[in-house]
Amino acid sequence: MKDVYILAIESSCDETSMSIIKNGSIEIATVVLSQIDIHKNYGGVVPEIASRNHIENITIVLEELLTKANMNLDDITAVAVTYGPGLIGSLLIGVQAAKTISLVTGKPLIPVHHIIGHIYANNLEERLKFPLIALVVSGGHTELIYMKEDYSFKKIGSTLDDAVGECYDKVAKVLDIPYPGGPTVDKLAHIGKDTYNLPYPLDDNTYNFSFSGIKSAVINLVHNEIQRGNKINKEDLCTTFQNRVVTILTKKTMRAIKEYNVKTLVVAGGVSANLGLREKISEECQKENIHVSFPKLKYCTDNAAMIGAAGYFAYQKGVTADLTLTAMATDTIYKDW
Ligand code: KG4
Ligand code: ZN
Repeated sequence: MKDVYILAIESSCDETSMSIIKNGSIEIATVVLSQIDIHKNYGGVVPEIASRNHIENITIVLEELLTKANMNLDDITAVAVTYGPGLIGSLLIGVQAAKTISLVTGKPLIPVHHIIGHIYANNLEERLKFPLIALVVSGGHTELIYMKEDYSFKKIGSTLDDAVGECYDKVAKVLDIPYPGGPTVDKLAHIGKDTYNLPYPLDDNTYNFSFSGIKSAVINLVHNEIQRGNKINKEDLCTTFQNRVVTILTKKTMRAIKEYNVKTLVVAGGVSANLGLREKISEECQKENIHVSFPKLKYCTDNAAMIGAAGYFAYQKGVTADLTLTAMATDTIYKDW
């Protein structure tokens, strides 16, 4: 079979990224231009600033990518792009770039859902084995998804309020840890002890999650201690918080694995970089003889390589868009993939 080269674009939040992926698993080249240093000054991503930076960066990233890959646009089979969900102004820049490349080259345009990209980041490690359960944990999402085969998705649960990564970042903020604080909370959690009294987030029989309760509990606890003139032990608070969150994520995931009778788990999204989560899930999967896969650290947070991997399987399934494709900020599915 002829090799398929997907040129992929990701601009849903504050990373301008492009990648060329061969046959859904081989990374030819990737460029990620992160705006974190800009947004750090504001304590979070400022949408308008993000889209302006995407505009400035997008052609630079494309030129750098083609140079790095030693390829030109004629060598590409198709163009894949994140159409949503994400920040609308940011998404539009990537979608417009993809449509332009598709129009100029006559190559097919493939719309990729951002979360599907995160799941297929695992296919850059090793070929996904079906059926599987995917636990998607990122700054914008917390979901459990059942996949019986490639490019088939059944959402079985999701967060009812905040995403887990968002909750990590808010906890970090109240502890004066710079944005994005998730990785630092994870580090501190490995130093401290589980001493604080925090609730388990939505410990019920569904596959849904809720993190706003534990987030408020942490914020209230910190404010109360400050008012009483007490010092917060950041390490201990991070350990307690992470233990509660990881316990519930692991518990619900393991229950889904049993109920759906799968032998493979993939963990995806920015929070899949979390060491505490990796340790606990690996330990449980080992006990139950479940094969678990985590993306390489560089593929955990937003990047276009994962969009190129997903784009390949979309292309195999005939999922393409015409030039009316537009960005979708909310969790909308493109047609019926
Ligand atoms: O997937 P991602 O890059 O963006 C979205 O699609 O939302 O995820 C970013 C999120 C941020 O909230 C960041 O704090 C969190 O992932 N994150 C972590 C860790 N590394 C990144 N959260 C907890 N522990 C980590 N080690
Ligand atoms: Zn993401």
